Amino acid sequence: MSQSSPDYSKGAAYVNGTYVPISEAKIPVGDWGFTHSDVTYDVVHVTDGGFFRLEDHLDRFHRSLEGYRLDPGVTRDEMRIILGKVVALSGLKDAFVAMLSTRGIPRVYGSRDPADCDNTFIAYAVPWVDVIKPDVQERGAHLLVAQVPRISQNSLDPTLKNYMWRDFTRGMFEAKDKGFDTAILLDSDGYLTEGAGFNVFIVKDNKVITPDRGALRGITRLSVLDLCPELGLEPIVGPITFEDTP
Ligand SMILES: Cc1ncc(COP(=O)(O)O)c(C=O)c1O
Repeated sequence: MSQSSPDYSKGAAYVNGTYVPISEAKIPVGDWGFTHSDVTYDVVHVTDGGFFRLEDHLDRFHRSLEGYRLDPGVTRDEMRIILGKVVALSGLKDAFVAMLSTRGIPRVYGSRDPADCDNTFIAYAVPWVDVIKPDVQERGAHLLVAQVPRISQNSLDPTLKNYMWRDFTRGMFEAKDKGFDTAILLDSDGYLTEGAGFNVFIVKDNKVITPDRGALRGITRLSVLDLCPELGLEPIVGPITFEDTP
């Protein structure tokens, strides 16, 4: 391959208005997305070469942007084009496609004012990754209800997508230490919330129940709830306590 043709085979990204191979996609250390976790994002699945529920993901991304008061200065139409282009460059038919906006670096050195930052828009497509590996899915994952509680909804709105995963990461260490595959967290009132990158459901009798609090409004969750009636199951969004878990 000549030097002039970039290698997108491991994935493609859009950063600072330019398309680059995923290995060249970087954010500066001064970006508040890195120093303050002042960033929001969304991830859409490309399966068999097509986006799955892209408009739902764009709706949620825009709700997250508004919630974080981030404005990347890119229209929804432009986002659709950029997302399509990173997928096309990568050549992937089954891809993990992320869109992000970071607060950026303040224009005034040392400023603590978010208004001094130009917010970024970043997108990338890489090969699809399963939250639970396929072989573990096959045998059924063992989930630990971890000791660490999910951060309060009063401090962090779980319906706005975020990278603040200290509680999840602590839970995952606890799960591994105890021989489980991964962790799910209760809130501080003892109600089940979600896991690191996934919503949870319990199936009891003919009912499929998913938490009504402390969790992202996942697109997978929405799809599961949509499909329940077709399968003769009753979808319920309601409170779940530790005692309700199998
Ligand atoms: C905390 C959390 N919960 C749930 C989900 C699942 O959301 P979706 O089904 O929209 O991918 C994610 C996905 O990244 C997540 O980060």
